[in-house]
Amino acid sequence: MKITDLFPSDLFAGRPVFVTGGGSGINLGIARTFAALGADVGICGRRTEVLAAAAEELGAFGHGVHTAVADVRDPEALQAALDGTAEKFGPIATLVCGAAGNFIARAENLSPNGFRTVVDIDLMGTFNATRAAFAQLKQTRGSLLYISASQADQAFAFQAHVGAAKAGIDALMRNLALEWGSYGIRCNAIAPGPIEGTEGMKRLGEVAGEDAWLSMVPLGRYGRTEEVGAMAAFLASPLAEYVTGARITVDGGQNLTGSTAFNAAAAGALS
Ligand code: COA
Repeated sequence: MKITDLFPSDLFAGRPVFVTGGGSGINLGIARTFAALGADVGICGRRTEVLAAAAEELGAFGHGVHTAVADVRDPEALQAALDGTAEKFGPIATLVCGAAGNFIARAENLSPNGFRTVVDIDLMGTFNATRAAFAQLKQTRGSLLYISASQADQAFAFQAHVGAAKAGIDALMRNLALEWGSYGIRCNAIAPGPIEGTEGMKRLGEVAGEDAWLSMVPLGRYGRTEEVGAMAAFLASPLAEYVTGARITVDGGQNLTGSTAFNAAAAGALS
């Protein structure tokens, strides 16, 4: 699938996007899709070298790229990153909140700080970016895209911290869709399943193993970051202009089978 065979290559021309955690993984796949469709792109992350490599890749599409070192737990750094993007490209039309942290841990071994760290990155980070982008999105009548996860509405063992954080993201998404609809701001979430080549999948995959994961996916394969990017592009585009408050799974049907295979395999690996 080549996105430009399906969507016009200038779909997001003059409609800048900002992606938190956009230097790698699913978030880079999303940034790449928007760049392919004509968007100027701002990304933030914690590591300069990761951002530089992503900027080179995104720049090859021929549109603007702005990078900023910003941890989503730092509201001031995020505000500076978003302001810097607007100074270069004008106010953003889409904010993708994708920065996340994950590790596998038994709940009884999880310290309060371990639990809080994931909630801070995922949920507080999503709120911090949203808050920092609000004025720009109000100006453009833009849209918010949150990256949720299967763990938000299915119980996964050893993922209590992640499930809590991602469920919070879904709730925030619905609240803001309601509250900011009057500004013309739409708010939706994508819940990716197992996506190949990502840090998250590496962490979950190396504990549970590929066989367990693939047994949970009716389509029988891992997803690709571009497939999440395609859904993000659709939700941010005029094709979805009456869609708000929606949570769309991009998981090959994993949500239909539950987490049992993962739980058993991971329990074996952890004990
Ligand atoms: N099991 C249990 N607790 C863990 C853990 C693990 N595998 N990894 C980290 N923690 C705990 C730490 O012990 C610490 O708690 P403590 O102070 O009570 O000991 C707390 O989590 C914070 O850890 P720290 O390493 O200081 O946090 P950080 O901010 O440097 O890193 C993480 C954040 C932990 C999420 C780290 O894994 C990370 O940077 N991840 C980013 C990439 C990622 O996860 N990508 C996948 C997204 S799906």
